[in-house]
Amino acid sequence: MAIMPRTILAIESSCDDTSASVVVEGAIASLIISSQADHNTWGGVVPELASRAHVTAIAPVIREAIAKGNASWSDLVAVAVTTEPGLVGSLLVGVNAAKGIAVSLGIPLIAVNHIEAHLLSVLIDQPDAEFPYLGMVVSGGHTLLYNVKAPGEYQLLGATRDDAAGEAFDKGAKLLGLGYPGGPAIDRLAADGNPSAHRFPRGLIKDSRNDFSFSGLKTSLRYFLRDHYPDALPTGTELADICASYQEAIVDTLAGTAFRVAADLGLKRLAVVGGVAANSRLRAVFAARAEEKGLALYSVRPIHGTDNAAMIGIVGWHKFLNGVVSPLTVTARSAMIRAERKGKGGDADAPASRTRIPEPDADIE
Ligand code: KG4
Ligand code: ZN
Repeated sequence: MAIMPRTILAIESSCDDTSASVVVEGAIASLIISSQADHNTWGGVVPELASRAHVTAIAPVIREAIAKGNASWSDLVAVAVTTEPGLVGSLLVGVNAAKGIAVSLGIPLIAVNHIEAHLLSVLIDQPDAEFPYLGMVVSGGHTLLYNVKAPGEYQLLGATRDDAAGEAFDKGAKLLGLGYPGGPAIDRLAADGNPSAHRFPRGLIKDSRNDFSFSGLKTSLRYFLRDHYPDALPTGTELADICASYQEAIVDTLAGTAFRVAADLGLKRLAVVGGVAANSRLRAVFAARAEEKGLALYSVRPIHGTDNAAMIGIVGWHKFLNGVVSPLTVTARSAMIRAERKGKGGDADAPASRTRIPEPDADIE
């Protein structure tokens, strides 16, 4: 008797992207992402608008993922969905859609942590990636460093104390009048600029070797603009130089910490994931330093770096193989970081904590 390939539907709606993916035997058969444009006018994601847009997009996105993945509803053996962390009103749209599908098809629901999905997203493009690796999540909401020991086993090593790396790009771009999201705009303009034209502060923290801080950088750009461009914002070469220098401060901070922590822990592999991983300067600097230091660098294609359901499907597949399913009472929650760390500032030389991203419980919030 022919063995049917096992097909999972994965759903992601934690922020402002509605996404669904069909994963067959751990391989991505389809990935649909519908991004919300409405937030551009507001300079950031407006939670109420985001949840409403998910409600509109969710069903067509799921249908399209099923169709493009050449799947039919009866093929599905499980439905995986992001339950945390994220905007609760956004998450609930995906969670409820997933529940409806699980109930009507009588298949298991698998709750997935969004950060865990980013950490394992490298497996989409590099299925043979080896563990352990240092995982750096750099997105609009997070700047996190984890020791990824194995699927399901993570140790939090460092995090931002204030703004996330993507937020630093977005807020810097806003000060420069470049609109939202600002990362791609700064990246583009910086290509013609001199990264050494100005020296912006590196986001290092005195009492921690592993944490990041980006709020000082943004403030220094504000003062720089106030002092040098009191009447009109910079344009042309001046704007390009400022973008390149500002971007350099972010990339240099991220690379400095990531490579030092990898060396401290003796980790030979490094994965950079999340929306900011698309940054061209970041990619170039990380590739050069990884080669120089003999580290394997795992990266994601931009479509898999930004929020997407394929990465949810990868985690869902691992959980499915391990028989980890969730109760139908599971809910959504906004918790930023569930994993705890030991030692002040999560220093690499602190006693190792074997931290797992726990299973979402049914009875919280
Ligand atoms: O992972 P993501 O799509 O969503 C979150 O979970 O936040 O990340 C979005 C962030 C935004 O802050 C955006 O400005 C940034 O990623 N980003 C970039 C680039 N592309 C996206 N930042 C720098 N350079 C880029 N090329
Ligand atoms: Zn994300």
